[in-house]
Amino acid sequence: VTEPRFQGRRIAIFGATSGIATAAARIYAEAGARLVLVARDEAAMAAVADDLRVRGGEALSVRADFRSMEGASAAVESAWTAFGGLDTAVVAIGSLPDQAIAQDDPDALEEAVRINFTVPAALSGDLAARFAAQQGGALAVITSVAGERGRRSNYVYGAAKGGLQRFLEGLRHRHVQAGVTVLDVRPGFVITKMTAGLTRKGPLWAEPRVVADSIVAALEKRRSVLRTPWFWWPIITIVKMLPRPLFHRTSL
Ligand SMILES: NC(=O)c1ccc[n+]([C@@H]2O[C@H](COP(=O)([O-])OP(=O)(O)OC[C@H]3O[C@@H](n4cnc5c(N)ncnc54)[C@H](OP(=O)(O)O)[C@@H]3O)[C@@H](O)[C@H]2O)c1
Repeated sequence: VTEPRFQGRRIAIFGATSGIATAAARIYAEAGARLVLVARDEAAMAAVADDLRVRGGEALSVRADFRSMEGASAAVESAWTAFGGLDTAVVAIGSLPDQAIAQDDPDALEEAVRINFTVPAALSGDLAARFAAQQGGALAVITSVAGERGRRSNYVYGAAKGGLQRFLEGLRHRHVQAGVTVLDVRPGFVITKMTAGLTRKGPLWAEPRVVADSIVAALEKRRSVLRTPWFWWPIITIVKMLPRPLFHRTSL
């Protein structure tokens, strides 16, 4: 009998009620992992934990308040101690602001940057330092292909995600010699509650499970950057290469 693939692996999921993160947690639970869930919504998190247990994983829950930086650090400390250390962490916290509001309202701008940059950056920095101290560990943080070029339709979200990509690049550089993997996950359009208000039709829309499979595989390969699904590599390569005069004629 072969052991399940992730038997005993200690994995924390920050933003555990996320559609993408839940799909990843299921893959780990089905392969015997021990999961610690971290989220603000206790009832929704309890439902995720029950589902993971049915699938064969162990699942603990930590309620976190990401409105303050103290809340974010307390969440890392609780997740870290739940199983006496961690092997892997996934940071999925993020929220799509209304661009039309956030571009003109400084309070909305600040909120969007806090939840898409400051909070995930603080969690990532803390987790990576703990992995470095134990000479190993893997961190996956969900950014977005939206962070790769500023576009008028969503540059507030894009700027926060792009900033997070630079932060992760530096964090990886800092801790690479200590055996820490820092994976920057850049999905395209995914069918989750974050995009419930958009028209979700067309070949570019992906199911969370497809994205989750690619995240798990990229973490195992210790990759640094993942654009997912795969077709975003050529699309983003072209979008980034478009000369500015041409780019300015698009409504992207
Ligand atoms: N869906 C897409 O098309 C897409 C594309 C590219 C990147 N992403 C990124 O992928 C990650 C996961 O998103 P998802 O698509 O799975 O969406 P989701 O299901 O809406 O998950 C977002 C997660 O962030 C948490 N969150 C949002 N605002 C928060 C706040 N103010 N305080 C505390 N927690 C908050 C949510 O908690 P609650 O459940 O309590 O709201 C949830 O756990 C995000 O970073 C998102 O930006 C998504």
